[in-house]
Amino acid sequence: MEAQPLLRVQGLTMKFGGLLANHDVSFDIHPGEIVGLIGPNGAGKTTLFSCVSGFLRPTSGSVIFNGEDITGLKPYEICQRGIVRTFQITQPLYEMTVLENVMAGTYCRFRRPKDARSEALSVLKLTGLWDKRDRMGSELTIPDRKRLEIARALGTQPKLLMLDETMAGLTPTEIQQAVDLIRNIRAQGITLLIIEHVMEAIMPVADRIVVLDAGRLIAEGAPKDIAHDPKVIEAYLGEKRYVRRKKHQSQL
Ligand SMILES: Nc1ncnc2c1ncn2[C@@H]1O[C@H](COP(=O)(O)OP(=O)(O)OP(=O)(O)O)[C@@H](O)[C@H]1O
Ligand SMILES: [Mg+2]
Repeated sequence: MEAQPLLRVQGLTMKFGGLLANHDVSFDIHPGEIVGLIGPNGAGKTTLFSCVSGFLRPTSGSVIFNGEDITGLKPYEICQRGIVRTFQITQPLYEMTVLENVMAGTYCRFRRPKDARSEALSVLKLTGLWDKRDRMGSELTIPDRKRLEIARALGTQPKLLMLDETMAGLTPTEIQQAVDLIRNIRAQGITLLIIEHVMEAIMPVADRIVVLDAGRLIAEGAPKDIAHDPKVIEAYLGEKRYVRRKKHQSQL
């Protein structure tokens, strides 16, 4: 018998007025997996994250986590159960230090400031932000903001960490560092669902890829099979220009 999935998305549909941002999407994620979620601009990837993490209530369908139906729960309730997501547009708390930013995450698990601080410090070591712990959020470079976004999410001690384009706009060296960080996070026993446009980054690190196009799941499988799937290639035609524009935007 197959082990129970950590996450089961079942027939998930999200409508914005007449627009079907997610249309009857179903897939499972198993404990310990790294799953890549890809698809062209506007495919519905971020919307799916918002539905799973409680920022949006799906129009229909369900989200099952560890066997429990969590559909429609509030983000903090879902976070307490062990799912956390990062945001495509980084949102550091500018007037707080890097350490305090991460403590905003660790307070989800620890009431005592001393404990929240000590957990935050260990997350800062893992994410390579230790040396910058006393800098203000507003002082960080783009790659460090992305690290901080991941660090704050890790501070909530998730079972499932969902990353929304944390590698967009990074240099090849920074991408390699991000991939190393993802592998380290998995080595801590955390399952990952990763939205990524940078194919060179996601394909080698993912065990499985799920592809959305115009709200629908159009393919699912091993990275090597997905890369040659005609449906996926067709969905991505004309995407190159878009990815370049987006890289530029993410520097802003
Ligand atoms: N809050 C909202 N209200 C109305 N429409 C929305 C809302 N959020 C997203 N949409 C629309 O839903 C569709 C899916 O958007 P979404 O942001 O999920 O795509 P995405 O796959 O994350 O795209 P990208 O790669 O550009 O980040 C788009 O057409 C978008 O304009
Ligand atoms: Mg998005």
